[in-house]
Amino acid sequence: MSQEFSPPTSEWYYPSDAVKKQAIVSDYEALYRKSMADIEAFWDEQAQKLHWFEPWEKVLDTSDAPFYKWFVGGKTNIAYNALDRHVKTWRRNKLAIIWEGEPGDKQTYSYWRLWREVNKCANVLKSLGVKKGDRVTIYMGRIPELVISMLACAKIGAVHSVVYGGFSEHALADRIEDAQSKVLITADGAWLRGNIVKLKDIVDEAVHRSPIVESVLVVKRTGHDVKMQQGRDYWYHDLMGLPIASPQCETTVMDAEDPLFILYTSGTTGKPKGILHTHGGYSVYTSTTLQWVFDVKDDDRYWCAADPGWITGHSYIVYAPLIIGATEIIYEGAPNHPYPDRWWRLVAEYGVTILYTAPTAIRGLMRFGDAWPNRHDLSSIRLLGSVGEPINPEAWRWFHKVIGKEKSPIMDTWWQTETGGFMIAPMPSVPLKPGSGTRPFPGIEADVVDEHGVSCPPGVDGNLVIKGPWPGMLRTIYGDPERFKKQYFSAYEKQGWYLTGDSARKDEDGYFWIIGRNDDVIKVSGYRLGTAEVESGLVSHPAVAEAAAIGVPDDVRGNVIYAYCMLKAGVTGSPELVDALKDHIRHEIGPIAVPTKIEFVTALPKTRSGKIMRRVLKARATGAPEGDLSTLEE
Ligand code: PRX
Repeated sequence: MSQEFSPPTSEWYYPSDAVKKQAIVSDYEALYRKSMADIEAFWDEQAQKLHWFEPWEKVLDTSDAPFYKWFVGGKTNIAYNALDRHVKTWRRNKLAIIWEGEPGDKQTYSYWRLWREVNKCANVLKSLGVKKGDRVTIYMGRIPELVISMLACAKIGAVHSVVYGGFSEHALADRIEDAQSKVLITADGAWLRGNIVKLKDIVDEAVHRSPIVESVLVVKRTGHDVKMQQGRDYWYHDLMGLPIASPQCETTVMDAEDPLFILYTSGTTGKPKGILHTHGGYSVYTSTTLQWVFDVKDDDRYWCAADPGWITGHSYIVYAPLIIGATEIIYEGAPNHPYPDRWWRLVAEYGVTILYTAPTAIRGLMRFGDAWPNRHDLSSIRLLGSVGEPINPEAWRWFHKVIGKEKSPIMDTWWQTETGGFMIAPMPSVPLKPGSGTRPFPGIEADVVDEHGVSCPPGVDGNLVIKGPWPGMLRTIYGDPERFKKQYFSAYEKQGWYLTGDSARKDEDGYFWIIGRNDDVIKVSGYRLGTAEVESGLVSHPAVAEAAAIGVPDDVRGNVIYAYCMLKAGVTGSPELVDALKDHIRHEIGPIAVPTKIEFVTALPKTRSGKIMRRVLKARATGAPEGDLSTLEE
């Protein structure tokens, strides 16, 4: 399902001398050439910058490809690199996190304070029986305890599975079940646009469905009344106040390839995939990419406005910024609460120098006009970033002019949950074209190819592939190695290439332009959803016999979902049923998956073999030509 494509522009934006002068990487071309000349030596050099309890014997093991292993035999722990090593240096008293809650409350964490909190939380988890290799599900809003819980799991070798706070009880239960988590960490609620999202109620429902959970740790955030089940539910602050929560905790020595986390993401089937990342390669990859692409220095105030519940937050809020010893901003709530200038106030107040966000947020804020940002001093900003979907040139230019004051380059970073970190992204010294992520990161060979694997000439659409392994790549789909092989490595099995699922094109200058997904994945406000998930959500309602979901371009959200439902015999469609189905999806998946439009139909366009032709539905919804209908069943 491809999104609306912004055609390549010939518009160039050259970095200023000031930007070029301070860039950590001043010559991308030379670095890229060097990396490709000897990929293993290149990653070896980057890995040396981290702490290892024991060095690796081999940088890359390809013997069981596509189950690649990186830094074989190396011993490390990502939490050691993010915290322990900093508290032994001057960074101990440097601010790691400046946090602001939606109601306006504030918290700051130096590396020292964060390290102590993580140690305490790790000891609490141990007291609940969590051991190395155990999975812990985390379901929380954007609060410091979310970061602390993730790092605490990593510290003791437990594998976290963070479920985004916008998912419903069913989605949460499925993920608990798949990961087989016995411990869950949550909060009573989360603030969103002045309202409370009642997370603990959702957890109670989910645990009722997945009784495998033995203990629930609850952070008090909103303070409203919640039910606590004795013997199962514990207040976080109670346990953190007990002597068992000592601020000292030995960091578990992990093998480079030991799992760090599972993060569920949507694919082409109804069942979300548990993407698995590891301690070693992921640490090296995320920290190197962040440092070079966003040029992060010790005196920066870095703000990635994503949610830690998604990969952007995992890599570029929780892990990479702390590994490189940055100071970062985390804000809990909505960008337009209480007014559309909340973000710009935060930028001015905290002197944000690097702001990394998504096109959907940019377009959303752009709608309110220039007066809101212009009211604030945004002069501290020196770099901007975008991720999650193609950025249309209009939004790019607004971001560049009104927020970046024409002096801050925009790092448009293309990557995926599976890739762990940026794959195609500029660096501040690289000339930009609005809407293009420019060129691959050093060590990455990306290409656009046809179905036979032949490189497409400039200007021709094809499949975006990655032609070799990289340290931050997913290692498997949790519990389903066959699906991992089939999904990512079967299309170009002979060549051993990784299939991204995106279609793209390259231009004459070798710049990459992402067109969008070419599988049945939709990006709604930058969130990744599978049409199959929405469809199986709809057919699980007693009134629906069959359903088809498609993504339709939308000015602000990138795409919205339209759904077509065939009802069971004897059921008639009504506006009430539309509302009931929307509500059903809200509970089955979450508010992000609710279709904007639900239409009742008597038939769905299908191929003779019974596959729904979503392309036809999409063409009809958008008024585009329907294309070749020869395979359409009569
Ligand atoms: O289609 C691409 C789009 O987001 C997909 C990956 O989604 P997810 O795993 O949720 O990760 C999002 C955050 C990394 C990709 O297959 N995408 C991501 N970044 C960009 C993008 N499309 C265009 N430009 C980008 N910068």
